[in-house]
Amino acid sequence: MHILMIGAGRVAEAIISGLAAQTDTKVVITVSNNADSERRLKLAEKYGVNTTDNWRNAVGQADVVISAAPPSVHERLFQDLSPLLSGQLVITVAAGIDTTFMEAQLPKGTPVCWIMPNTAAQLQASISTYVCGKFVNSQHREFISMILAAIGEYEELSEEQVHDLTAITGSAPAFVYLFCEALEQAAVQYGVSNEQARKLVTMMVAGSAKMLEAGYSPSELRKQVTTPGGSTAAGLKVLEDGKFSELIGAAVKATNAHARGRSN
Ligand SMILES: NC(=O)c1ccc[n+]([C@@H]2O[C@H](COP(=O)([O-])OP(=O)(O)OC[C@H]3O[C@@H](n4cnc5c(N)ncnc54)[C@H](OP(=O)(O)O)[C@@H]3O)[C@@H](O)[C@H]2O)c1
Repeated sequence: MHILMIGAGRVAEAIISGLAAQTDTKVVITVSNNADSERRLKLAEKYGVNTTDNWRNAVGQADVVISAAPPSVHERLFQDLSPLLSGQLVITVAAGIDTTFMEAQLPKGTPVCWIMPNTAAQLQASISTYVCGKFVNSQHREFISMILAAIGEYEELSEEQVHDLTAITGSAPAFVYLFCEALEQAAVQYGVSNEQARKLVTMMVAGSAKMLEAGYSPSELRKQVTTPGGSTAAGLKVLEDGKFSELIGAAVKATNAHARGRSN
């Protein structure tokens, strides 16, 4: 399979490095960006990919075209891409660029897929959501699964759900990081160093995530830690009095309202 990657940033590298690590898959990758020749050189040296500063010349040889360029350039990019396509699968990872938009911009019958990874794609630990367009067949689906597996775990959703769940999978990591920052600030008030606070909070969150991954539900785990009338219960009461769950729900809604405003 020959993949043309348009864009050579963080997500592009995450996919390339994940594919490079899949030893059973033979893929040739051509990666392109407009300006940064050093970046192209670095990717070529590190992963053995072909590079170009003009992706238009590489569309003909490609089986799959992946756009990892910014959302704002997609309308123009699809205009340039359309006359060069001859049935290739077109994938984008750009926020807000859904399959309805892709199918409207690209030639009729083009198989398309919209993948929403998150920042952990860089460590092959993304939970990505995705939706396929109307013309995607079973062979395309195999390609799509391979690309998704290169950056972590994945879940197929409806287009509307990919839009709405991006708040949870894409933005909520920032909510978690804010929570960690607050805990670090609390920790240093008890005399530990910043480094110690970082280690304590990081390992607490990593361990908690492992417990969730082991299959326990969040409420089950919360109850395990919380003796009725005990000290953890006293802390949780402060969060509940501050309407913690409602606040998270409102943050998700605000994220989606803003994203919809931008992409519509
Ligand atoms: N980072 C994340 O965690 C994340 C999560 C979900 C989705 N995404 C989406 O993934 C896409 C890439 O994000 P990123 O974080 O990898 O961005 P990034 O690191 O800024 O990389 C963007 C790449 O696109 C290239 N580019 C810019 N304009 C272009 C154009 N007109 N044609 C072709 N290439 C162009 C840039 O290089 P030149 O300027 O040299 O061309 C650069 O290589 C974005 O659409 C973003 O919405 C990112």
